[in-house]
Amino acid sequence: MAAEFDTVLVVDFGAQYAQLIARRVREAHVYSEIVPHSSTAAEMRRRSPKGIVLSGGPNSVYADEAPQVDPALYELGIPVLGICYGAQLLVQQLGGEVRRTGSGEYGRTELRADPHSILLSQWPESTGVWMSHADSIVAAPPGARTIASTADVAVAAFESVARGLYGVQFHPEVVHTPRGQELLKRFLFDICACRPTWTHTSVIEAAIDEVRATVGDRRVLCALSGGVDSAVTAALVHKAVGDQLSCVFVDTGLMRAGEAEQVEETFRRQFGVDLHHVKAADRFFAALRGVVDPEQKRKIVGELFIRIFEEVAAGLPGVAYLAQGTLYPDVIESGTAAAATIKSHHNVGGLPEDMALGLVEPLRLLFKDEVRAVGEELGLPEEIVWRQPFPGPGLAVRIVGAVTPERAAILRAADAIVLDEVRRAGLVRELWQSFAVLPAVRAVGVMGDERTYDYPIVVRAVTSDDAMTADWARLPYELLERLSSRIINEVDGVNRVTYDITSKPPGTIEWE
Ligand code: XMP
Repeated sequence: MAAEFDTVLVVDFGAQYAQLIARRVREAHVYSEIVPHSSTAAEMRRRSPKGIVLSGGPNSVYADEAPQVDPALYELGIPVLGICYGAQLLVQQLGGEVRRTGSGEYGRTELRADPHSILLSQWPESTGVWMSHADSIVAAPPGARTIASTADVAVAAFESVARGLYGVQFHPEVVHTPRGQELLKRFLFDICACRPTWTHTSVIEAAIDEVRATVGDRRVLCALSGGVDSAVTAALVHKAVGDQLSCVFVDTGLMRAGEAEQVEETFRRQFGVDLHHVKAADRFFAALRGVVDPEQKRKIVGELFIRIFEEVAAGLPGVAYLAQGTLYPDVIESGTAAAATIKSHHNVGGLPEDMALGLVEPLRLLFKDEVRAVGEELGLPEEIVWRQPFPGPGLAVRIVGAVTPERAAILRAADAIVLDEVRRAGLVRELWQSFAVLPAVRAVGVMGDERTYDYPIVVRAVTSDDAMTADWARLPYELLERLSSRIINEVDGVNRVTYDITSKPPGTIEWE
């Protein structure tokens, strides 16, 4: 697949820096891949990159075991751009000097750029850039020219055009460096001569070619969860191999309102997919009867899901491949692009061992935002493409205490109101997740002349970039008021609404 696109490698020195750089490169329509810093220069050359970016990282070049990179990569004749830690490492490896000067910079900093340089060509004399460094470059490597400085740092950027080596102390990949994307484009197009061919249409075409080549005339099975990753996977595979694809949707009775109908509408009616819709709510509620421990709930839902999936699969002879919605960040985390392990917390928790299925993972090179764009281009409805993350065990981990059909119905109705109002307020994409939780307590209220003793509903809405940390969303009071009055008026069994104002940490996003 990579052969169709010019490739830029991003060498990963830790934390999230490399992923952000890779995404920015792709936004410029150039394919980028993240490689560990332990890759040798020979390994990198084998990928035929047009350019190499050394990412930032959380370390000091003077730290014990500071991550290194094979210095032979500077001799490959491929342009290299070092960013922050990557620039400092390049300087250190090529005979310049990095020092702990005590004049680190954090946050927005004014940069004086040399407009006659190649990398910062036509930059105004003073520009805001985002800095985050303790060590500083005090001397560029021999043969390289200093092309920018700040009040505190003499060498904020350097270049050696003859050797194709470039370095910036600031972070061009963050939005707080307004000219950052311009700098990356300069590197990609003017210095590396990349072609901007990584577009959503070409990504889809390449993925379709690859699925066809892998699958041939065999059959493929795909589990739909209602979420965006599995939906885009199924839509892509269907576009590639048509009715060789069968999809399984297990309705656990723990889905959000309207989810099963949406899957039916989209995949059976719109795309004409061979859809096996298993209505298994009774089995899930029976298995969960009396269970209150969250981890126990997860285990039960996960195992029963796999058992049902296997039952359906066993009735579909000739299936040779399983399509999965593995994304690029999972592939990076699992170490190598070939590893592509199955997410343990995913709905499809494990391959049925005796099925010996091959894996088809058409999204394994894509970031989440690219998956959404591909989904839109494939004609999936907005509600699916922009659906917020939803835990595999579904409402079971949002019903604190016992999971019964009655309590699930209360929560589902309240949750539908939350999503409906959030959608009307135009906040679905802005919020990482917004949903309702049903706690295991009751509260006293009064409705009409009657005293009530019913459940409260907790509304939870968070902003986040990756679910590792999250903040409670500052929803407008008017929206909270509408949520409260609609939930209490429209959902039987609820007499109170509260809003969860806990960030993560110390809380988690889900209640269980
Ligand atoms: P927490 O609650 O740990 O959640 O802050 C972080 C993110 O993970 C989702 N989540 C799950 N997803 N199976 C899943 O597939 C699970 O068991 C599970 N538990 C939490 C949660 O919705 C949030 O996006």
